[in-house]
Amino acid sequence: MVNYKDLGLVNTREMFAKAIDGGYAIPAFNFNNMEQLQAIIKACAETKSPVILQVSSGARKYANQTLLRYMAEGAVEYAKELGWEHPQICLHLDHGDTFELCKSCVDFGFSSVMIDGSSLPYEENIALTKKVVEYAHQFDVTVEAELGVLAGVEDDVVAEESHYTKPEEVIDFATRSGCDSLAISIGTSHGAYKFKPEQCTRDPQTGRLVPPPLAFDVLAEIEKKLPGFPIVLHGSSSVPQEYVDIINTYGGNMPDAVGVPEEQLRKASKSAVCKINIDSDSRLAFTAAVRKVLAEKPGEFDPRKYCGPARDEMVKLYKHKIIEVLGSDGKAE
Ligand code: G3H
Ligand code: 13P
Ligand code: ZN
Repeated sequence: MVNYKDLGLVNTREMFAKAIDGGYAIPAFNFNNMEQLQAIIKACAETKSPVILQVSSGARKYANQTLLRYMAEGAVEYAKELGWEHPQICLHLDHGDTFELCKSCVDFGFSSVMIDGSSLPYEENIALTKKVVEYAHQFDVTVEAELGVLAGVEDDVVAEESHYTKPEEVIDFATRSGCDSLAISIGTSHGAYKFKPEQCTRDPQTGRLVPPPLAFDVLAEIEKKLPGFPIVLHGSSSVPQEYVDIINTYGGNMPDAVGVPEEQLRKASKSAVCKINIDSDSRLAFTAAVRKVLAEKPGEFDPRKYCGPARDEMVKLYKHKIIEVLGSDGKAE
């Protein structure tokens, strides 16, 4: 049994309380490899932003959960080396799907876990979430739950179409499950193709897809029911078109990739939404940079020569999100 506090990590409780009061959101960035983690920590150290490092099931399969946890422990020391005196770093399990998995993360030093029972019938979601909460809270580990279903692929959970969170259920769900934060469905979805072309209009000048707005009315109703309660948005990548263009220019093929416009995330950050999940944008930044280097220098074979520029591009992306979209800069001095 390892307690996250001994690793210099923090849970989300205080982060979220401050974010709601201050009208900003905490970035929750997924990481799968060293370059991503270095870029996240560098961006947060340079902007003094609190951060949630997320480990998904895909990341565990790819990189090994044990290794990822030790990397997060190393990240706290790396942050201090970069001159960040009091790093506020949370290590979070993204989309945990069983009690056993959540327990293993709590026991192993994670400071926060998500139990995603959103695909289960309502009562089963409550029961599973409650079981995880009862265990995690003994060790002061915070728990995120999900109500409502996002469109697209949620790890192993496949939803044909999204089902917005029903505001009339949130008080009962939060009270009976005891969760610390609630992920809701208001129109975001995972991945780089968040909206089908038929859901969008097209900008006549650029020909680019213009997605439909998020359901801010549903968010407002949820906030009214649960004043001051931390709300989480998954699937919040914006799919920057400059990266899609670079990828397509240098041999890629990502037609009609589209995300959530940043203005809408900026607006959400000022509400009870205090955690915004971003993964796909980092993948796009990485891939765009790697494709460009390899296309321009076909003789290059040293991974540092293309992973290095990819890492620099991710630092730029993360800093942009922190400063221009979420407003979390300067909140962890
Ligand atoms: O929620 C989904 C995240 O983007 C992680 O996806 O399981 O492919 O790592 P992944
Ligand atoms: P994106 O695919 O929009 O980056 O969402 C990531 C996410 O929600 C991780 O849980
Ligand atoms: Zn997610």
